[in-house]
Amino acid sequence: MSSTKLILCFLLLFLTLNLSASSTGGDHERFMYAGFTGANLTMDGSAKIIPTGLLALTKDTFRAQGHALHPAPLRFGQSNGMVTSFSVSFVFGILSSFGDIRGHGFAFFIAPTNNFSSAFPIQFLGLLNDKNNGSLSNHLFAIEFDTIRNNEFGDIDNNHVGIDINSLNSMQSYHAGFYDDKGGTFTNLSLIGGGPIQVWIEYDGYTTLTNVTIAPLGMARPIRPLLSVTRDLSTVFTNQSYLGFSSSTGLSTAHHYVLGWSFGMNSPAPTIDSTKLPKLPEPPNYSGPRTQSILLILPLIGSILLVLIIGIVVLLVRRQLVYKEVREDWEVEYGPRRFAYQDLFRATRGFKNNNLVGIGGFGKVYRGVLPISKLQVAVKRVSYGSKQGIKEFIAEVVSIGNLQHRNIVQLFGYCRRKNELLLVYDYMENESLDKHLYNFHGQPTLNWSQRFKIIKDIASGLLYLHEEWDKVVIHRDVKASNVLIDKEMNARLGDFGLSRLCDHGSNLHTTNVIGTIGYLAPELVHTGKATTLSDVFGFGIFLLEVSCGQKPIRQNSEGKHLILVDWVVENWHKGSLLDTMDRRLQGNYNIDEAYLALKLGLLCSHPFSNARPNMRQVLQYLDGDAQLPELNVSVM
Ligand SMILES: Nc1ncnc2c1ncn2[C@@H]1O[C@H](COP(=O)(O)OP(=O)(O)O)[C@@H](O)[C@H]1O
Ligand SMILES: *[C@@H]1O[C@H](CO)[C@@H](O)[C@H](O)[C@H]1NC(C)=O
Ligand SMILES: *[C@@H]1O[C@H](CO)[C@@H](O)[C@H](O)[C@H]1NC(C)=O
Ligand SMILES: *[C@@H]1O[C@H](CO)[C@@H](O)[C@H](O)[C@H]1NC(C)=O
Ligand SMILES: *[C@@H]1O[C@H](CO)[C@@H](O)[C@H](O)[C@H]1NC(C)=O
Ligand SMILES: *[C@@H]1O[C@H](CO)[C@@H](O)[C@H](O)[C@H]1NC(C)=O
Ligand SMILES: *[C@@H]1O[C@H](CO)[C@@H](O)[C@H](O)[C@H]1NC(C)=O
Ligand SMILES: *[C@@H]1O[C@H](CO)[C@@H](O)[C@H](O)[C@H]1NC(C)=O
Repeated sequence: MSSTKLILCFLLLFLTLNLSASSTGGDHERFMYAGFTGANLTMDGSAKIIPTGLLALTKDTFRAQGHALHPAPLRFGQSNGMVTSFSVSFVFGILSSFGDIRGHGFAFFIAPTNNFSSAFPIQFLGLLNDKNNGSLSNHLFAIEFDTIRNNEFGDIDNNHVGIDINSLNSMQSYHAGFYDDKGGTFTNLSLIGGGPIQVWIEYDGYTTLTNVTIAPLGMARPIRPLLSVTRDLSTVFTNQSYLGFSSSTGLSTAHHYVLGWSFGMNSPAPTIDSTKLPKLPEPPNYSGPRTQSILLILPLIGSILLVLIIGIVVLLVRRQLVYKEVREDWEVEYGPRRFAYQDLFRATRGFKNNNLVGIGGFGKVYRGVLPISKLQVAVKRVSYGSKQGIKEFIAEVVSIGNLQHRNIVQLFGYCRRKNELLLVYDYMENESLDKHLYNFHGQPTLNWSQRFKIIKDIASGLLYLHEEWDKVVIHRDVKASNVLIDKEMNARLGDFGLSRLCDHGSNLHTTNVIGTIGYLAPELVHTGKATTLSDVFGFGIFLLEVSCGQKPIRQNSEGKHLILVDWVVENWHKGSLLDTMDRRLQGNYNIDEAYLALKLGLLCSHPFSNARPNMRQVLQYLDGDAQLPELNVSVM
């Protein structure tokens, strides 16, 4: 042989070995694929050759199957009926699609057909279906690499290798792994995600022994096979046999790849050069305990973030909608008197009905405890329509906040929202006087000395407003429901100045004000101008109310309006003044004090304002420091 011929021969050999399949035909068929780029395979289903040269049988599709076969059928039978010895080797890799999720596995097969349209995916591995399992007419020989344990097929675990003949119930199966050549110790292999695995399948036509051996790619073939079965395949194989791979997915998916494949009939399968094989794709960076915990943590972090974002949005929306306030430049100087709506909202538990202590002419009053100072407060919500006058009113509220007297309900401050004003007062444990006078809650009625003290308290409170402070403050709404009783049973005047807001907003004849019409001085109704003397008129009515235990205006059984002052005046004319004293006192009162209170009440509620005493005089009369003038009979 000339050297050129020799070189040509080597070249030919090189080409046949490296460039996909080569057939020597008949009893000496051989082929080898080191990667499948350009290989002429028969494929169906999800099987395809991807650009890197890998044969991909399945991908992330559910209930899919894929087959890839050597294109030409082979003939295993000999004329004597014996099956020719053969040897197969291949390298495969399985990657999970996601985390620990596993597809159903993969198989090498020798079958009489290349038409698998009747085969089922999932646990049938694309080889058989529910009808033909176990049938001798299947003529199927397969080595399964099963990654899911199917009890109906007697699977031993979810990571095993089995020899299957006509059925998916393996003749023999074992946990995937190999035996060490020296000590013979068994090493487990993970079929999924453990890197490429090389497989050797050998059949001896004389001994009818089938050996199956697996090992990680790069390792020499272990001497001791993983599986070894004696079974004559002559009844299994038909004249024409197709060789190939099959795999399937179910609801769980995996990627099944074949990297290289060689076959030898009557000869050892050509050695697969591991360095020429394509690489498995990077395992989707999911596997392993660390990533598993990340898989668990990610949704957790996600949901925490979501909750946080929702929380922040809710907070912002609350701040914008629920806690929204109106704040103007001129209010800056009133800073210390200004309350945050959010604090008042929290203090009153969101203005719940449980915290409602009363409904007055101007709005609802709620009890609350301020968040930081733990101060008990009464918050009055007053709605106002027009913006005009609000500046003056708030200036007044703020200046009133500076008033401090033991017979005045302290006004702590205010808060302003759209069309709404909130006034924050000191909370009075014993609520308003009217509730005591008329036994709203079945309290024992106030005795005379308590009543007389309340009268004096309110007189000194009103005097403080009229004369003892920097400016003259006109209360405008002296009445029993505006007199509040504190813990020590001191009476305190509350609610001043509000009627002024009303002056600006609505007119005096709204139903809001009718409730207090009985306290209004006649000149106030005509002129609309409040004075200290119109306050004295209101105080006079209040005196009568406390002494008689009756509302300034009430309806009798016939629906006729009875005016308290008129009735007292009438009794005074008749000389039966003491008959007007509250029945609930059962006559238990100091007669002098009773006369004083009734007469002073009439004097203060005199229709002519100049006939009324001022508050200083009132206090002198009450204290006995001055003699009450005789009432002018003709005028009354
Ligand atoms: N500072 C307060 N402390 C406790 N209760 C209060 C306070 N202010 C008002 N209230 C209660 O709220 C009710 C309504 O008050 P208010 O609006 O002042 O009545 P009105 O408008 O009829 O004068 C009162 O009857 C009283 O029971
Ligand atoms: C592939 O193999 C089949 C069967 O051997 C043959 O008929 C066909 O022509 C081949 N195709 C190519 C592109 O080689
Ligand atoms: C495959 O077999 C089915 C019947 O099992 C038949 O309907 C179909 O035509 C066959 N396909 C081919 C390509 O021969
Ligand atoms: C499959 O066939 C084998 C062999 O005939 C049998 O032992 C097994 O029970 C069958 N399995 C099912 C699920 O039909
Ligand atoms: C191999 O895996 C099987 C099943 O998980 C287990 O029972 C056996 O102990 C393992 N053997 C080794 C050597 O890890
Ligand atoms: C199968 O394995 C056994 C035990 O290692 C060995 O004796 C036999 O020769 C092997 N058969 C083939 C066909 O490789
Ligand atoms: C198998 O081949 C033999 C001889 O070549 C032939 O007699 C027989 O009919 C074939 N069987 C089938 C199923 O094709
Ligand atoms: C996952 O990816 C990161 C960065 O790409 C790498 O550092 C890490 O080793 C990967 N983990 C696994 C299990 O592949």
